[in-house]
Amino acid sequence: MFLDQVKTIAVVGAGNMGHQISLLCALKGFRTFCTDISQDVLNKAQSFAAAYLPSQVQKGKLTEQQAQEARERLHFTQDLATAVGEADYVIEAVVEVLDVKRKLFAQLDRMAPPHAILATNSSYIVSSRIADVTARPEKVLNLHFFNPALVMKLVEVVQGPHVSEESASLSIQLSERLDKVPVWIRKEVDGFLLNRIIRAIRQEALWLLEIGVASFEDIDKACVHGAGHPMGPFRLMDLTGIDLHYPMSMERFRSTGNPADLPPPSVVERYLSGRYGRKAGKGWYDYSQE
Ligand SMILES: NC(=O)c1ccc[n+]([C@@H]2O[C@H](COP(=O)([O-])OP(=O)(O)OC[C@H]3O[C@@H](n4cnc5c(N)ncnc54)[C@H](O)[C@@H]3O)[C@@H](O)[C@H]2O)c1
Repeated sequence: MFLDQVKTIAVVGAGNMGHQISLLCALKGFRTFCTDISQDVLNKAQSFAAAYLPSQVQKGKLTEQQAQEARERLHFTQDLATAVGEADYVIEAVVEVLDVKRKLFAQLDRMAPPHAILATNSSYIVSSRIADVTARPEKVLNLHFFNPALVMKLVEVVQGPHVSEESASLSIQLSERLDKVPVWIRKEVDGFLLNRIIRAIRQEALWLLEIGVASFEDIDKACVHGAGHPMGPFRLMDLTGIDLHYPMSMERFRSTGNPADLPPPSVVERYLSGRYGRKAGKGWYDYSQE
């Protein structure tokens, strides 16, 4: 398949990531279906698009016509078969749970046209752990956007051993068409590229906090004002969500057996008390007044 043959994209999961990925696809000219098992989540995704498009027009970043065209290209449905039935490219962005993704990919394989590429936006689950439930493993790969997907330029395309050169290359081209900066990762490696680097920084930051070297605020300040990072590791954890970070650390510990991979008490405490970060109004920082 050539990029010009990709006309319709389906985004499955309309949460943190999916609502922005689907809007991005519609803005960049693709007929886009956005689906979720939760009607409430879909309503929120729809309200987000309804508010975002006029705000971009007001800022002079879109013309009224571009906003209107994006609106017309973006469809919301709770019905998976309708969402993926005519898709040339499917981007899965559901919860980071392997079983859920495996069941979903088996459904996608039955419902999406045989030529469609089935990509997962997973941050940590490599596509070789999913591809075997489909009859098209060469078309199942990781297409990893960063949060917020409308803003962050990087997209990681991960080519596992089962993925064809054609699928990886098309995904690189698609990412460029979406105005992103893709990187081609030619081996499946836990955490891909950027999250491995971020994890190393976060581990060190958490360790420095645990042994009482500095406050989390000062560690963030050091990263922002000394290394030029847009935000420190604690504020970043708040943005991505401690509810995501905690199970990922546990999963990593289960696979490595290395106690250094276990979340430290300061993270466990926040996780257990629901202080997940920005989305909960509290995490490392307090967002309740925002
Ligand atoms: N949050 C981040 O910063 C971030 C960044 C990059 C990648 N990711 C990855 O993106 C994926 C989604 O993360 P998120 O933060 O958007 O999660 P989220 O919890 O905000 O959204 C997940 C959505 O999936 C829906 N869902 C669950 N099962 C479904 C199914 N079978 N069919 C359709 N919808 C279903 C849920 O209702 C929910 O709305 C994960 O794999 C995560 O690893 C997350």
